[in-house]
Amino acid sequence: MRAFDPYPFFTKYAKGSCIVDVDGKEYIDYCMAYGPLIFGHAYSYVIEAVREQLEKGTLYGTPTEREVELAELVCGCVPSAEMVRLVTTGAEATMSAIRVARGFTGKKKIVKFEGCYHGAHDCVLVKAGSGATTFGVPTSQGVPEETTKNTIVVPYNDSERFEEAVKSEKDDLAAVIVEPVLGNVGLILPKEGFLETLRELTEAYGVVLIFDEVITGFRLGLGGAQEYYGVTPDLTTLGKILGGGFPMAAYAGKEEIMRLTAPSGKVYQAGTYSGNPLSTAAALATLRTIKEKGAAFYEQLESKQKKIARVLESSAEEHDIEAQVNAVASMFQIFFSANPVYDYETAKAADNKKFMVYQRSLLENGVFVPPSQFETCFVSTAHSEQDLGKTADVFRETFSKL
Ligand SMILES: Cc1ncc(COP(=O)(O)O)c(C=O)c1O
Repeated sequence: MRAFDPYPFFTKYAKGSCIVDVDGKEYIDYCMAYGPLIFGHAYSYVIEAVREQLEKGTLYGTPTEREVELAELVCGCVPSAEMVRLVTTGAEATMSAIRVARGFTGKKKIVKFEGCYHGAHDCVLVKAGSGATTFGVPTSQGVPEETTKNTIVVPYNDSERFEEAVKSEKDDLAAVIVEPVLGNVGLILPKEGFLETLRELTEAYGVVLIFDEVITGFRLGLGGAQEYYGVTPDLTTLGKILGGGFPMAAYAGKEEIMRLTAPSGKVYQAGTYSGNPLSTAAALATLRTIKEKGAAFYEQLESKQKKIARVLESSAEEHDIEAQVNAVASMFQIFFSANPVYDYETAKAADNKKFMVYQRSLLENGVFVPPSQFETCFVSTAHSEQDLGKTADVFRETFSKL
């Protein structure tokens, strides 16, 4: 996902909303490392917390009190979280959540949705979004068909197809995994009632519902998309913002399921860097700061997003360019399409070539958005009014040439 033509810029350093390449050129950054940096780059509280920890050791291989503090903080924020296991990457979190769901139900199959990306591990690399779609390998080579035959793929936002799949596979179905807001084929919001349908049917058929909130966790609010939409899954995966820019992820959920994880249960999970003290320090600094700032924190972020989305919409309208802007909280993306974008197929039907011309023009003018139609843009607290003003000028200039 980092590669793009003719070549990606190489970064020298980054601070706040600004990322600087090796030639010294500055960009206002809306990629934000693909989502973790809600305070922008090199946020002082996080850096201080990690610096302090560095002196005390970087890895212990033993439990720490701070892991427990962090787990308690997560349980206090995320509605579905009764127990938490810390891991290192989002891929590890979804892989482990699926494993414990299979252990709990004693069943093999899972449902995933077209365009959802849950990390680069075998059973979810089927019609996956993000880089997998950008580079035309949504279903990866090297994944045995014995693995993918247990993965049933359903179109996102299609409640009827979902119901059919659950009813026909119910005897073998362990889990349903979904990005409650799809952030990996551009940005796609759940249609009204879609998440509720997932909840009702999984409950009715004894299937574990996993919300992959690696992007949306602490982004749509401290309680993530499950709080925002009022639908509580059985298990949740977290990453990105959780680690405040350091490698940290987690899976969490109902105690009766989570307890099956070793050592209290027989579902194995382990990792050398799990809950490492540097990432834990960064995670605690991040979550505590957000919590202290209260509701205004997310309101301010959303109002910045709205300013940007409005400029995108009005610039497209002014220049008669067919476009759809999808946005929620501090996330946004544009699709060059005359039709609403609500699933994988409608996202792929948008004019990808035009998107790359747009991305390139923004880059030349000092604004960095992810180099693919199939990613999402992120606003951080570090984006200033001045940044937003400059971004608006660059958008207008870009649309006048598209
Ligand atoms: C929704 C979602 N789940 C899981 C992952 C995998 O996370 P990681 O790249 O940390 O393995 C990603 C990564 O972008 C993601 O967006």
